Amino acid sequence: MLAIEKLTASYAALSAISDISFTLAKGARLGIFGHNGAGKTTLLKCIVGAHAPSRGQVVYDGVPIAAGNIAATVLRGIAFVPQGHNVFPNLSVEQNLKIAGLLFDASFVTQVYELFPVLKARGPQRAGSMSGGEQQMLALGMALMTKPKWLLLDEPCTGLAPIIIETVMKRLDDVNVRFGTGLCIVEQNVPAALKLVDRAIILKSGRVVFDGAARELEAQKDLWQWF
Ligand SMILES: Nc1ncnc2c1ncn2[C@@H]1O[C@H](COP(=O)(O)OP(=O)(O)OP(=O)(O)O)[C@@H](O)[C@H]1O
Ligand SMILES: [Mg+2]
Repeated sequence: MLAIEKLTASYAALSAISDISFTLAKGARLGIFGHNGAGKTTLLKCIVGAHAPSRGQVVYDGVPIAAGNIAATVLRGIAFVPQGHNVFPNLSVEQNLKIAGLLFDASFVTQVYELFPVLKARGPQRAGSMSGGEQQMLALGMALMTKPKWLLLDEPCTGLAPIIIETVMKRLDDVNVRFGTGLCIVEQNVPAALKLVDRAIILKSGRVVFDGAARELEAQKDLWQWF
């Protein structure tokens, strides 16, 4: 279980998130939404230990996440895919995947290729020469090479064409169903993400203003009232 307990974080004098609490059962699918600057990225960074909260804590399977040691968090099974194409542009697609899985199981690349056949087809290609959507899939594939129990994704669909967004969402669904990987997805494309997740949290000025079923939010005529 992943428990976010009264999490408060700031950057110097600027408060970014305040008193956020929620728990996620193994394999849960959560969408985190909110305007620019609402604190979504800060929340993910605190969960993965990339930013130290000023109050509160994140507890994973009974043990707190240590701030400042992302590698330790990844080894514990929480992978983070930050915004943008986080691949090694000068290495091949296959080299990127193998490096990501270096401390884990290099043979898992076969399963990543099954999920993303485009990566198999492009194995020898220089990662930096792939399209935006392909690089996003590679970044996802790299995160999967760490065999995560949780996948934290910061705006994975930014800049992608609608058809590619559909593919990325479908693959995330597959990952959740096949491996039981929990998903925490921050996304500006709320309608697309709501189709994938079961639960939604909306942040406004660093606070939770909605926490409920994704279907409930989807059914609302004016869901933007929350933003
Ligand atoms: N490294 C930083 N130094 C100072 N302030 C920061 C830093 N990172 C974020 N902030 C501030 O913290 C607040 C929350 O930012 P955060 O990046 O978490 O928002 P966000 O919801 O992810 O926004 P976006 O949708 O634009 O990505 C914002 O006011 C932002 O300016
Ligand atoms: Mg952000």
